[in-house]
Amino acid sequence: MSVLICGSFAYDTIMVFHDKFKNHILPDKVHMLNVSFLVPGMRKEFGGCAGNISYNLNLLCDDALPMGTVGHDFRPYADWMDRCGISRQYLTVVEDNYTGQAFITTDEDDNQITAFHPGAMNESHMNQVPRDAGIRIGIISPDGRCGMIEHACQFVDAGIPFIFDPGQGTPMFSGEELKVFIGQATWVAVNDYELHLIRQRTGYSLQGIAAQVNALIVTKGGEGSTIYSSGTEIRIPSVRIAEIRDPTGCGDAYRGGLLYGLSHNLDWETTGRIASLMAGMKIEHEGTQNHHPTRWDISARYKVSFGGRLEFG
Ligand SMILES: Nc1ncnc2c1ncn2[C@@H]1O[C@H](COP(=O)(O)OP(=O)(O)OP(=O)(O)O)[C@@H](O)[C@H]1O
Ligand SMILES: [Mg+2]
Repeated sequence: MSVLICGSFAYDTIMVFHDKFKNHILPDKVHMLNVSFLVPGMRKEFGGCAGNISYNLNLLCDDALPMGTVGHDFRPYADWMDRCGISRQYLTVVEDNYTGQAFITTDEDDNQITAFHPGAMNESHMNQVPRDAGIRIGIISPDGRCGMIEHACQFVDAGIPFIFDPGQGTPMFSGEELKVFIGQATWVAVNDYELHLIRQRTGYSLQGIAAQVNALIVTKGGEGSTIYSSGTEIRIPSVRIAEIRDPTGCGDAYRGGLLYGLSHNLDWETTGRIASLMAGMKIEHEGTQNHHPTRWDISARYKVSFGGRLEFG
């Protein structure tokens, strides 16, 4: 049974400046800022929320069906998806647009200057949630604003339960719009900052949100996550990491694990642990789709981290 993953696809270009921005930005001259940073280190990565979540779910099972809009420059990403065996059935190419892209420059203090070009992502409403395609559950992750609103309504109309995962798209929505999403969703997954923003805009308490959904999942970086479901609070620890290489995309990896547990009817404890494990394995690698554990590796690491058995059917 398939999992429809609605959200962005993007190229991430990551450049490393071997100095500190503060040595080059003069505070009394910011009204005429004109700086150029020489960046000898540069990587280009496949990213975007739907791309990353699908990649992680695909490590666990064969059910990932991403849905998104991409540009005329998508060929290398398409080849990568084909090599990974991820379906492109619900991707739409918008020929006169670029694929979304982020240009991230990092300095020695870990400060970042980012430019994000949404490109084809802003056309995500061109896609529609397919009916009668054997889709069991879905997720609305950050995407074009219209697309997120329309896809949530289409999930409801099709009777498909879904996770509302507004991520970095949260600020695009008013309190009233967020209330509608929460009312439509079966599950809500956010980090602690996004929860704070939603609470501020809607006036809802944490319990007020949790009471409206089957589960509210809140991630808290290295402190792990908490799943609020049916009046109970399940604490999920983060896994021990060999080396923190790059936390970018750990939220998406976590959601890949969540979708696996939900689509296989696992209990919350196991589902949360798989999610935490997927996030942990991602953090040990640079980029969002450069970890390649086999299902055997995932089972073995699960046993080491949590002591139980995880079997893939
Ligand atoms: N330092 C860490 N060590 C171990 N696990 C971590 C660490 N940081 C994050 N995680 C795991 O990843 C999950 C998601 O992290 P976080 O709350 O930072 O998500 P996020 O802010 O949405 O991240 P993203 O930058 O991907 O959007 C955590 O609940 C935890 O399981
Ligand atoms: Mg996130």
